[in-house]
Amino acid sequence: MLPCQRHLFDIPADVAYLNCAYMSPLLKSALEAGTAGLARKAHPWELTPDQFFTGAEEFRATAAQILGCSADCVAIVSSAGYGIQMAAGNLPVRKGQTILVLDEQFPSNYYPWQRVAEENGAALKIVPWPGDHDWTAAVLDALTPEVAIAALPHVHWTSGGRLDLVRIGQACRHLGAALVLDLTQSLGVLPFHANEVQPDFAVAASYKWLLGPYSIGLLYVAPKWHGGSPLEEGWIQRANSRDFSSLILYSEDYDAGARRFDMGERSNFALLPAAKRAMQQILDWSVAGISEVSGALNRRLAEASAERGFSAPPEPLRAPHYLCLRRKAPIPKELTEMLAREKVFVSIRGSSIRVAPHLYNTVEDCDRLIACLRGVTNLRSLATGN
Ligand SMILES: Cc1ncc(COP(=O)(O)O)c(C=O)c1O
Repeated sequence: MLPCQRHLFDIPADVAYLNCAYMSPLLKSALEAGTAGLARKAHPWELTPDQFFTGAEEFRATAAQILGCSADCVAIVSSAGYGIQMAAGNLPVRKGQTILVLDEQFPSNYYPWQRVAEENGAALKIVPWPGDHDWTAAVLDALTPEVAIAALPHVHWTSGGRLDLVRIGQACRHLGAALVLDLTQSLGVLPFHANEVQPDFAVAASYKWLLGPYSIGLLYVAPKWHGGSPLEEGWIQRANSRDFSSLILYSEDYDAGARRFDMGERSNFALLPAAKRAMQQILDWSVAGISEVSGALNRRLAEASAERGFSAPPEPLRAPHYLCLRRKAPIPKELTEMLAREKVFVSIRGSSIRVAPHLYNTVEDCDRLIACLRGVTNLRSLATGN
C-alpha cells in the first residue's frame, strides 16, 4: 500500500482534513507550478505566442492519460457545468424521449437537461433512490427504449453509491442512447477508462479528486462528436490561431479534435501548469493505489461509526473513497461544534456525514473523527438515533 504522502502538502499537524469531496488541498508542487505560471504575467514581453499552446497541450496529454483516451479527445473547460452544457448543446433529443438522471443528482448535471427537455418536448426520467443501494441495477432497469441520453455520475454524490459504467455504457449503446458523465467525484481516485466505457461526453472539475486548482476542468468528447458546436466561438479554437499575425483572415476551420470545445482564454498560465502537475502526481502514485488507501481509511471509519448508529452502503456498491455515514436523526449540534474545535473537517448535511480521505490522511486523522463521534455529550441520543 502507498505510504502517507502528507509531506507533499501543506497541512498542519493539528488539522484532520477528511474532505477531498469538498475541495482537495493543493500539492506544494502544484502551488509552485501555478505561482511560477502566474508570475509570467508580470513580464508579458517574455510570453511568446507558442506558449499559448504548449501549456494547453501538456495539460491535454496528461488529462488523456488519466481518462484513458487520446489527447485529441480532451477539451479544456472551466467547470463541470460548462462541460455538461456542451454535451446538452450537441446531443439530439426528440419530443416524447427522455433524459435519464439520478435522484439527488448534482445540479450541474441536472439543470442543463431540465432546460433541454423543456425546449424539445422531452422529459427528465429520474432514477429512484434504490432501497438496496444498487444504483447500477436501478439505472439498467430505467434504460428503456425512449431514453435518448443517460446523464450520470460514476459516484452518486449524496450516497457514495458507485455505478458500473462499463455495463451501463454497453446498455446505452445497445439502446442507441447517448451517455454523458460527470466524473467530478471520481476521476483521479476511481479507475476509469474512456475507451472501455465509451461515453459520448465526460467531464470532471479539477479541484477535488484531481487535486488541481479551482476553475479548470477537462472534458472528454468522443470522436463522433468532434464536428459539433462549441459554446464559445473564440479565436484560439480555430485552425489558424497559431499565426497571430493573420487572425483576421477568418477561418472556417477549427483546430483538430476536441480542441474546438476549449473554453475561451483556455491558455491560463497559472491554472494549467498547476492542474497538470497534480495529474502527473496522481499518475505517478496510480489511481488504483490512491483508491486502495482511501478505501482502507474509510473502512476503518465505517466500522467504528456503526457502533454510533451510523450506516453506509456496503462495498462494492459504494465507492471506496467516498463514505456517506447516515443515521435516522439529524446530527447533534454538539458534534458539529466538537469537530470544529478539534479541527476535524468533514461535510455534514442533515443526518449525514460525508468523509472523503486521500493520501495525505493518516489513521490518526480517522481516529480523531471517531473520537469526536464517541465524545459528544449526548452520546445516548447519538447511539440510539433519537
Ligand atoms: C458531483 C459534482 N459534480 C460537479 C461539481 C462541481 O460543479 P461545477 O464545476 O459545475 O461547479 C460538484 C461539486 O461539489 C460535484 O459534487
